[in-house]
Amino acid sequence: MQNYKKFDKIENISFIKELEIGFSKKNKKIPSRFHYDLNGSKYFEEITKLNEYYVTKTEKKILKQLSKEMKNIFDNNLTFIEFGSGSADKISVLINDKVKFYVPLDISYDFLLKSSIKLAERFPDLSIIPSYCDYVKKFILPKKISKNKIGFFLGSSIGNFYDKKEKKFLQNARKTLGNNSFLFVGVDLIKNKRIIEKAYNDSKGISAKFNLNLINRINKVLKTNLKQKDFKYSSHYNEKINTVECFLISKKDQKLFICNKEFVIKKNEKIQTEISKKFTFNTFSSLTKSAGWKVKKYWFDKNKHYSIFLLQNQ
Ligand SMILES: C[S@@+](CC[C@H](N)C(=O)[O-])C[C@H]1O[C@@H](n2cnc3c(N)ncnc32)[C@H](O)[C@@H]1O
Repeated sequence: MQNYKKFDKIENISFIKELEIGFSKKNKKIPSRFHYDLNGSKYFEEITKLNEYYVTKTEKKILKQLSKEMKNIFDNNLTFIEFGSGSADKISVLINDKVKFYVPLDISYDFLLKSSIKLAERFPDLSIIPSYCDYVKKFILPKKISKNKIGFFLGSSIGNFYDKKEKKFLQNARKTLGNNSFLFVGVDLIKNKRIIEKAYNDSKGISAKFNLNLINRINKVLKTNLKQKDFKYSSHYNEKINTVECFLISKKDQKLFICNKEFVIKKNEKIQTEISKKFTFNTFSSLTKSAGWKVKKYWFDKNKHYSIFLLQNQ
């Protein structure tokens, strides 16, 4: 069992470092991975249950459909490796008696352990090896797993990378999984702006709580006393770049010290907290090709709002 306290510390150190980098930019930004402390992971789980959040519902429907084909596509003695596994709820749709090992990888370690325990209760014969991992980097997989490796990157997380780092992720996932491996990727598609915007700004305000949780996390790591009520959440779909952009907007002039440096947050200034890029079949296919993967198969829902790609590393 890996050490929870150690990973909490690593995450806090990298959060401080990224805050300093992100707040030094002209347009302040925080990478979306820092949403996911234990509270953030719980808020995200609530989001996945919202009516407006079509991503989870649609992806699960497609997974159910493709679960019938799994036995024909793959051999026996499989290892499932999930990047950013979260609640590990979706993977349960695909587990059958050919799957011997499951390696969920996540930075939200406390939540990862809790999800793994829940899954182990449902699948007592499955060997589950939860591992703390920053999936942007190459990761050395546990030795005891079988050689038939199938990766999963679900939840449209491929759209969350700043600075076009999704290509780097796909390249490193190839290195992590090795030759002759496969990778399923959940890809959200360009569609009606209203459907997209509702998903990221729900009527119950859970998306807002998820984003405002960053203020608590900043207070915890920097020992500051910022108030959630002095920020508001805002998001919109930018059709020029096919991307949802999420922000915290400061309601007043504020100051913040990061590593002894003073940062001013002006009234009405925006801090970017997340992006979610939307793709077409062609834009995603060419991205995978540029990262060295081959598209083996793909599935859509009936409205073509969402897709799951199966990629092969040859
Ligand atoms: C959008 S949620 C998706 C969760 C789940 N896969 C789903 O489809 O519902 C992103 C997940 O990836 C994890 N995560 C985010 N950035 C990560 C990183 N750099 N390395 C590892 N895990 C990360 C988060 O903790 C969270 O569990």
